[in-house]
Amino acid sequence: MARTRSLRDVVLVLVGALCMHIATSFFGMFQPEFFSGDIIVNTQVNHHEAAAAAPPPPQELNAGTPQDVVTVDTSVAAVDDFAETTVESHAPGWTVFKNLYMSNGTLFVVSSRPSSEFPDIRLITSTGLPAENTPENIAARMPTAKDLDFLTPAEARERWGASLENLETHRNRVYPVHGNTFLFNDPQQFLDHYYHFCAELLLGAWAMWQGTFNAKVDPANAEVTTAPPVTRAIFVHADANGWRDRPGFNSYFLRAAFPDLTVEVQSDWQDRIAASAAGGAHARAWRFDTVLLADRSAAFRGVICGTQVHRTAGEAFHHMRNLGALARWWWEPVRRAVLRFADVPGATIALGTRAAERVERGLAVPGPDDTVVITYVNRQGVRRHLIDEDHDALVAALEQLCAARGWEFNNAKAELLTKEEQLALVAKTTVLLGVHGNGLTHLIMMSPTPVSTVIELFFPGGFAHDYEWTARALGHKHFAVWNDTYHTYPNLPWVDYPEGFQGTRIPVHAPTVVQIIEERIAGRLP
Ligand SMILES: *[C@@H]1O[C@H](CO)[C@@H](O)[C@H](O)[C@H]1NC(C)=O
Ligand SMILES: *[C@@H]1O[C@H](CO)[C@@H](O)[C@H](O)[C@H]1NC(C)=O
Repeated sequence: MARTRSLRDVVLVLVGALCMHIATSFFGMFQPEFFSGDIIVNTQVNHHEAAAAAPPPPQELNAGTPQDVVTVDTSVAAVDDFAETTVESHAPGWTVFKNLYMSNGTLFVVSSRPSSEFPDIRLITSTGLPAENTPENIAARMPTAKDLDFLTPAEARERWGASLENLETHRNRVYPVHGNTFLFNDPQQFLDHYYHFCAELLLGAWAMWQGTFNAKVDPANAEVTTAPPVTRAIFVHADANGWRDRPGFNSYFLRAAFPDLTVEVQSDWQDRIAASAAGGAHARAWRFDTVLLADRSAAFRGVICGTQVHRTAGEAFHHMRNLGALARWWWEPVRRAVLRFADVPGATIALGTRAAERVERGLAVPGPDDTVVITYVNRQGVRRHLIDEDHDALVAALEQLCAARGWEFNNAKAELLTKEEQLALVAKTTVLLGVHGNGLTHLIMMSPTPVSTVIELFFPGGFAHDYEWTARALGHKHFAVWNDTYHTYPNLPWVDYPEGFQGTRIPVHAPTVVQIIEERIAGRLP
């Protein structure tokens, strides 16, 4: 269709688009998918931008071929005069910028305000080196001006502006990267793992992004958020396989939640560095419209992540929660997009919002028609696991409990199930139970209800916050079981990995687990 348009049509559209850009300085709005209504996440215009300018009719948006769009970008570069960088939101390890520049591998804040008015760069970024717990390595991850630096607009113009003698024929050498970018500065070490990628990095990024734009999610239509769409993810330190986990959940999840997001990896970032590495008359910079910069080392320099929950996402989540900027159903757009992609029935996907409706009407949860589903993540076939006899006794006790109550019991070995089977199972699960391990990461796909529960079996004395904090942040109650006792927030043990934590002789007293489940479903452990 676009090909049959006359050049004049195209030019008119481009001129219109350019004017709108100058008016709103938010070019991301013009992505056709913004208005197409056929994607799952992010179909609505954010209210700030919506107030700034009415969208042009959708058919005009389809007029441009990709080449036309490039034409617009170049002319925008010519008219932009070093748009100043602003920090839209910040928590340790999570910063949302507008107009962030990058040249030769250094991120630049261009501002007429003093750098002291910006957050400490140690709380924004790091050198991105793999983390080890040694003083040398901690020092080596401290950022310097090579990682993030500050320029005044005059200094930026000196580096990347057209020289005065050539003003007629030359343009500023700043190249806009339009749309919204997630810039992940984490080492590969924490990317190729389902928990760290989906339940920590993406979850934290999503909390930060939703909060920054004060996004609204309507429980009746919780696929949709008013936050702007994410155009691209850049993995600065990971190669093409570096952000993919072995079972393949990371890529499945990313593609399902963000069907039109583009991925750039380390070699692409190196291209951008190399192409901007020249000095003197050819010095150039990229200018990113809107960037969420995530940095794991910087998050660990924050109090919440560094000393309390040890989850980078904790910094983003608690910052936004404390500001009152995080909608109650903030995670639903991602969770639902992934479950829809996995063909999970709509009624199952909506269990959480239906339960909330019942609560509002003063009705009990679970209701008489709700099936209670207990899912035990069986790790006996993999490294860290229960004493065999304790496992057998636990399964027998859970079978007996569920038979007596009319509940559904699943003894699930993830390695024997397809991704769709795993997601369908966890989406309907009321109580997810298992030994501490990556199998519990699926809790991010459970429906939050007044009885949704995660029971994590630890070697007695051992504890880690991974699933505890994540469950709690997403609205599930978590129990850390030590054989015949348990802990739950706010009475949590210290983090510890005693001898036996990773072993194959983890004890569990089945009646203790059965009792937690019974009391929880009966509403006696709210
Ligand atoms: C670009 O970065 C490299 C590596 O840090 C450095 O050696 C080089 O001098 C830089 N080029 C310019 C023009 O600053
Ligand atoms: C687990 O608890 C049961 C019941 O109290 C007890 O009999 C058993 O010895 C405990 N096992 C371990 C390893 O502590």
